[in-house]
Amino acid sequence: MISPQKHPQMADKKPNVTLKRSLTDSMQESLNAQILMEARSSYYYLAAASWCEKEGYEHSAKYLYKHADEEREHMLKIFHYVNEAGGHAIAPSITNIKHKYDSLRQVFEHILEHEIGVTHAINELVDTSFSLKDFATFQFLQWFVTEQREEEKLSRRAVEIFDIIGEKGQGLWLIDKEIGRLDQLAHGGSEGSDKK
Ligand SMILES: [Fe+2]
Ligand SMILES: [Fe+2]
Repeated sequence: MISPQKHPQMADKKPNVTLKRSLTDSMQESLNAQILMEARSSYYYLAAASWCEKEGYEHSAKYLYKHADEEREHMLKIFHYVNEAGGHAIAPSITNIKHKYDSLRQVFEHILEHEIGVTHAINELVDTSFSLKDFATFQFLQWFVTEQREEEKLSRRAVEIFDIIGEKGQGLWLIDKEIGRLDQLAHGGSEGSDKK
């Protein structure tokens, strides 16, 4: 952040916005941490998509590219919420993304672990909002609670596909195809009752 101390020419300028706000500094800090996590998720999926595309798993790549976009939307959702609440959303810088995988199965095993980690982070965030009696943020976060349940279900299903089909022979070709169909499960597929 640019501070008046570091930029003395700005010190005598009045800030544009001086209104009070109910969003606390600690809630804002936690939301900014989640903005970073969603951005990391987006790049995590993007790198995994790239690896799949390079290896010829075109359906998995398509699925992962789409999820990279969705994670960016999650990031923006929180981003706008913070600024609309009178806070300051911080654009994250992303480093140390995993670019290489040993197998297609490893891609999806790591994604499942990653999504479980995100669920824990969202739960912590909800807990923080509740302890601070910030019920507007608490309510805002309910969308993410439902979304994480969906994301975990999809990620678990992706790993199950490897066990159901098996990776020998044409298995990987079929697995790739089935992973490409996973979004139907998320968006009004056969098991769908609580879809986005
Ligand atoms: Fe997300
Ligand atoms: Fe996710």
